[in-house]
Parts: sequence; structure tokens; C-alpha cells
Amino acid sequence: MKFSPLSVVSLGFVTVSVGAFVPKSQNVVDTKLYSGVERNENFAKLSGGYLFPEIGRRRNAYLEDNPEMADKIISLGIGDTTKPIPEHILSGLVEGAKKLGTTEGYSGYGAEQGQALLREKIAKVLYNDLIDPSEVFVSDGAKCDIMRVQQVFGSKVTSAVQDPSYPVYVDTSVMMGQTGSQDESTMQYDNIVYMPCTPENGFFPDYASLPRADVVYLCSPNNPTGAAATKEQLTEIVNICKERGSILVFDAAYAPFIRSEGVPKSIFEIEGAKDVAMEVNSFSKYAGFTGVRLGWTVVPSNLKFKDGSLVRDDFNRVMTTAFNGASNIVQSGGLACLDPEGQKEISNLIDYYLENAKILRETMEGLGFTVHGGTDAPYVFVELSESMGGSWDAFSMILEKCQVVTIPGAGFGPGGEGFLRLSAFAPRDSVIEACKRLSEELK
Ligand code: MLT
Repeated sequence: MKFSPLSVVSLGFVTVSVGAFVPKSQNVVDTKLYSGVERNENFAKLSGGYLFPEIGRRRNAYLEDNPEMADKIISLGIGDTTKPIPEHILSGLVEGAKKLGTTEGYSGYGAEQGQALLREKIAKVLYNDLIDPSEVFVSDGAKCDIMRVQQVFGSKVTSAVQDPSYPVYVDTSVMMGQTGSQDESTMQYDNIVYMPCTPENGFFPDYASLPRADVVYLCSPNNPTGAAATKEQLTEIVNICKERGSILVFDAAYAPFIRSEGVPKSIFEIEGAKDVAMEVNSFSKYAGFTGVRLGWTVVPSNLKFKDGSLVRDDFNRVMTTAFNGASNIVQSGGLACLDPEGQKEISNLIDYYLENAKILRETMEGLGFTVHGGTDAPYVFVELSESMGGSWDAFSMILEKCQVVTIPGAGFGPGGEGFLRLSAFAPRDSVIEACKRLSEELK
């Protein structure tokens, strides 16, 4: 039986066939209006758009109705860096670009896994040689790598996520077809293990008390709660993953914000982690590279599937098939980030954002709110009072009354309801002005 465009004339339930036989039972469409391709059913399961564009949409809708407020808007919403790239790191990017203008320096395609020197430097400078350069895959960012991780695992695995959590873990699991649909009353997807993270458990999940999942996503310092997991907590989750045969995907994109003594910056500081964990990471928040795009994923050679095959080999297969390597210019910037001067510049940038976080935290505490995070992370997670309604209501109220964009906790999953996330990635004067407006409105 053949489906011919010639034959596609749909009159609802009646099919008029021209030139080829089309069975009545076949779904026939008017190809002047539609293609004949079924929508991927997994996308239909997603509830609404991705969180951050949705925030942007609401902000723009507000500005359309109130164009006179355009200059007043302050964003404490998406975690997007605002400080310029410092001198030494910038010189790396410039050098990378300049090389392309010379015969000797020109390079075309590079290794899909990243330049050997950058992989070595990441292993040495950021991991103190706890990992091997061959285990590092340089990429265009942690978010993109999370999707690649999902492609490696495929559609049959069960995933566990912290609740609340960075929405990419859940949304990509849905896109991959790992889940059922979303239950409208709980706002949870079927076949995802939601691991409650609350002030009572220090925002660290009790995975042992929950059903087993194949893949466990854990982010520390955490987005959105700002909690940084202790060595004991990470040891516990590594051990339980080992016991249950789960693979831990550790998101360390905010690692350099850790300033508390003894708090691990990488999962590989935990004994046994190389048998159970992989780590995604990125220069975005380290060095102001949100627009530059450079990240990496560490897949240890010890990490194996049930059949003994290496997870690293499959990750490599995804990278070599569907990625041509990070931009050579940008990798040159990455190398500069890892020089001692670059490391110092990163530390200064982070000091600046942590000072912003302190101002935000103290302002909200001064207004009587219970506040979490903001000490080892750039996010301040504020517990809302019941009188403020749901977190989307609080978001709208603050946008309308203060012209300050925040992120409602519910955007990070049902466990985020009742909280509001404030990002410290804003210019200092904007943070101070936002705090002034919040103080006037919320006092
Ligand atoms: C955020 O939570 O604001 C994110 O960091 C944005 C992103 O990196 O995708």
C-alpha cells in the first residue's frame, strides 16, 4: 500500500483518492496544510514550553502592556552571567581567533572529544589528576551534554531527579520517551523517581528510601536550591548507587562557587565514584562563557553497562557521530581559563557574584523570609509566605510591582512550589536597586 501526496485530500472521514489507493483507515491529511508525519508523541507529553523561554515570554508580555517599564526591568531570573570576560581569558579567545587568520595557525575540524591539551589541563587543574584526560569530553555546554547523556541511555531507562531540580533532566527524559504522561494533580511524570529535596533534609535526597532508578541526576551546588552537598552526603549516594547498580550523573556546573571548607567540588573526590558516576560541567558560570559555549563531561573508564561494555565508548560514539568538537577559538579561551591567571580571574568573578548573593540573601532575610543557598552557589532560594499565593503568583506580583524578574520555584518541579529563586548573576547596581524595590514592596 502506498501513501502518495497525489492522493491526499481529506474530507474528514471520507477519503478521495486520486492516482493511488489509500485505505480508509489510514490517517489522511491535507498536505497543503500539514505534513503526513506523526508528531513524536513524547513531545506531546511535555507540559508547556521550557522554563526559561516561558519566563522571557511573560516578561515580554508584561512589557508589551507596559512599554514605559522597559528601562526599569531588572533580571534576577535566568542564571546568565553579566560581567565581561576578564583580560587573560579574553586574550585566549583572541589568540584562538587570530590563529585562524594565519597559514600555520589555521585549523579545521578538530578532535570531536576536544583538544588533547585542553583535556589534559582539565584533568590536571580542575580534577587534580583524579581522572584521566581520555575520560574528558569537551563540548559546547553542560545542558547539551545532558541531552547527549540521555541519548546514550535511550528510552528504556528509569531516571531519578531531585525535586526541585534543573528542568533539563526531566524534560530530556520525557523527550527520550522514558516517561509516561504528567499527572495533572501531582505535576509528576510517570516513570520518573522524584526525590524530594526540602529544607528538612537539607535539600539532599534520601535515595535509599525511594524506588530504584537506572540513572540518578544530582546537582551540587544545587540549582535551584543553592545547597552544596557534603562529603558524607555524596559518599552515601555513591554507595547506594553502587549497591543498586544505578549510574549517577553529577552536575557540577556551579562547583567553583563552593567556598565552604571540605565541600567536594567534584563527585570524583568521593571514593568509589569512578565506578558509578559521570560528571557534566561547564565554563559558562565559571568564566562568563554562557554565550561563548564550552563545557565538558567526564565519563570514567570504570563505568560500565550491565553487559560489561563501557559507557565511555557509547558517549564517544554520540560525540563523534553528532558533534564536530567545540569551536577551536573557544577551546583556546578554555585553555586560558586554566592558566593560573585565568583561575585567579575566575575566582574574582565568583567573588563578585557571591557578594551579590549575600546582598540578596540578607535583604530577603531582613524582610522576614527564610532563605536558603547563596553561600556556596549563585542562587538564593526564598521560602514564600502563604499569603503570597503560589510561586507563579509571587513571580507575577514581583514583576508587576517591582519590575524584577525572578524564577518561580514551581518551574523546577512540584517540590519547588512555595519558593522563589533569585539569581546573583546581575550587575551590582541592579542587585542593589532590586533589593530596594523588593524591600519597599514586601515589607
Ligand atoms: C538557570 O537555571 O538559570 C540555568 O542555569 C540556565 C541554564 O544554564 O540553562
